[in-house]
Amino acid sequence: MATSSVAIEVTGLSKTYDSLTAVQDLSLTVQTGEIFGLLGPNGAGKSTTLRILITTLKPTSGKATIFSHDVEAEADTVRQLIGYVPQERAIDRFLTGREHLLLLGDLYHLPKEEAVRRIQELLKLVDLEDHADRVAKTYSGGMKRKLDIACGLLPNPKVLFLDEPTLGLDVQSRLNVWDYVRRLRDQGMTIVMTTNYLDEADQLCDRIAIIDGGTIRATGSPKELKAGLGGDGVSLTLREGDPGVHEQLTEDIKGLPFVRSIRSRERGLDIRVDAPEKALPALFEATNRIGCHIESIEYHRPRLDDVFIHYTGRSMADASSSSDSESAG
Ligand SMILES: Nc1ncnc2c1ncn2[C@@H]1O[C@H](COP(=O)(O)OP(=O)(O)O)[C@@H](O)[C@H]1O
Ligand SMILES: [Mg+2]
Repeated sequence: MATSSVAIEVTGLSKTYDSLTAVQDLSLTVQTGEIFGLLGPNGAGKSTTLRILITTLKPTSGKATIFSHDVEAEADTVRQLIGYVPQERAIDRFLTGREHLLLLGDLYHLPKEEAVRRIQELLKLVDLEDHADRVAKTYSGGMKRKLDIACGLLPNPKVLFLDEPTLGLDVQSRLNVWDYVRRLRDQGMTIVMTTNYLDEADQLCDRIAIIDGGTIRATGSPKELKAGLGGDGVSLTLREGDPGVHEQLTEDIKGLPFVRSIRSRERGLDIRVDAPEKALPALFEATNRIGCHIESIEYHRPRLDDVFIHYTGRSMADASSSSDSESAG
């Protein structure tokens, strides 16, 4: 493995809007050439963190540097190193995809010839060559996202920030975006992205930070985080019936040596176990003994969702639905 060098260093970063603390005492390190993901539900503080890093928002306290340049004190230098793809960009003017990029090239003061050449390369990278001269307003969601990414890449950044790059895209477009992001990483670019998709964090990101309620709960590669949980998951779904059975079963299996933890669900239990070959028969025995009927049983290796539950106390799905009502996005 090549020796790694630090691209981004964040120390004790906090941001308070009026009275609401959106980000609290956040610290993280991003290595050069990795895909780093901030994984968390809506309202977790992901976009706020990104906006501080791209110098458009001032932190309330704490510090962040990009290639050793302070995002506040050296904002101009930092801006020359980064590209940004915001969560939402409205591409709805009567410009073609290519014209959008050319306009942006002017803003960045790129020499015309260089701009034309780079734009051609970028259109190719994101498979928009055939649609480059169509009015972008008529693009599909996936095509607009591709154009957004091309825009973020135009300044040839060393670090690319992507805020929820695949939000609302169809499956094929998501896979395409993953593919571009990997290609950029393989060319040596450092990527920082946010997501609230577990599978995206799991499959695309080299390392992730789990963020909830403005604080980081865990950091590591998806593999490390899953392995760190230890044990496998058993999800029991019980047939409806005696309401007391749930508690009884929990009591009975709590002390079993290979049961690590038990979490109650609406109609069943999520159990973390070591040694499934011992745990499964013992669980069946326990349910038989108290005469409760298992409707289904599912056994799985640790998943990123289990990691999220372990560190935040709730599932990603619950976290997202509870914050949907609070946050407008
Ligand atoms: N400009 C703002 N003014 C006030 N509150 C904000 C502002 N931007 C975000 N928030 C709040 O800060 C919290 C974090 O928001 P955000 O960083 O957008 O989270 P995420 O990107 O993870 O969904 C949320 O509660 C949100 O409502
Ligand atoms: Mg956001």
